[in-house]
Amino acid sequence: MTDAAPTVIAIDGPAASGKGTIAQGVARALGFHYLDSGSLYRLVALKALQAGTALDDESGLARVAETLNSGFVDGRTFLDGVDVGSAIHTEAVATAASRVAVVAGVRRALLGRQRAFRRRPGLVADGRDMGTVVFPDAALKVYITASPEERAGRRYKQLIEKGNSVTLESLLRDIRERDARDSSRAAAPLKPAADAIILDTTGLSIEAGVAFVLARYRELGSEHGH
Ligand code: CDP
Repeated sequence: MTDAAPTVIAIDGPAASGKGTIAQGVARALGFHYLDSGSLYRLVALKALQAGTALDDESGLARVAETLNSGFVDGRTFLDGVDVGSAIHTEAVATAASRVAVVAGVRRALLGRQRAFRRRPGLVADGRDMGTVVFPDAALKVYITASPEERAGRRYKQLIEKGNSVTLESLLRDIRERDARDSSRAAAPLKPAADAIILDTTGLSIEAGVAFVLARYRELGSEHGH
C-alpha cells in the first residue's frame, strides 16, 4: 500500500455552487492539501490581460500557461511574485478565465501543475474536470451544484463584501454564460463524472455540504475494511 498514489477527493461543479468553500472545509477536517484549480485558469487569464495576449490567440495563451510563474503560499496566490488574491477574483477575470479554459493547449499546459498537488496525506481538488480528466482515479468524486439564482445570490454577497460594485442581474447573466461556455466546450467540458455523487446545495448550508462529503468519504473507508 505504501506505493499507492495519495488519496484524492475530486469536487467539481459550476460557478459559485459552494464547491470551493466545501472543498476547503473538507481539506481542513481531514488535514489534506487543497487545490483550487480555477485559480490557475484565473492566473492565465490575468497574465494574458496584463501582457495584451488576445483571448482568441490560442498559441499565445498556451505559451502564457506553459510559462506561468504562479505561487501558492499559506492560502495566498502569487503571479510573478505579486500577491494577486483579489485581482483574480473580479468578474472580468472570471469571464476571461472561462475563455482561456476553452483552449486545449492551455489545459494541457496546466495538467502537470495540477497533478503535482497530489501529495500525502491526501488532496482535495476543486474545479470542473477534477474527476473526469485530472484525477480520474480519485477515491471520491462529488459534483456540487445549485440553482443559477442561488449561485448568483451567493456570488453577489461575496463580491459586495469584498467592496466590488456589481448587480445581481449582471451576475446571473455572467453565470449563465459561463455555465454554457464551460459545458459546451470540446476540451474537458463541465459534466459530472460517471461515478460522481451529485450534491445539490440549493438551500443547504456550507457545514451541511462539508458533513455530506466527509460522510461519503468515511463510508468509503469502512467499505475497504479500515
Ligand atoms: O469560483 P468559480 O466557480 O466562479 O470559478 P473558478 O472555479 O475559479 O473557475 C474559473 C473558470 O476557470 C471557470 O469558469 C472555468 O471555465 C475554468 N476552469 C476550468 O475550466 N477547469 C477547472 N478545473 C477549473 C476552472
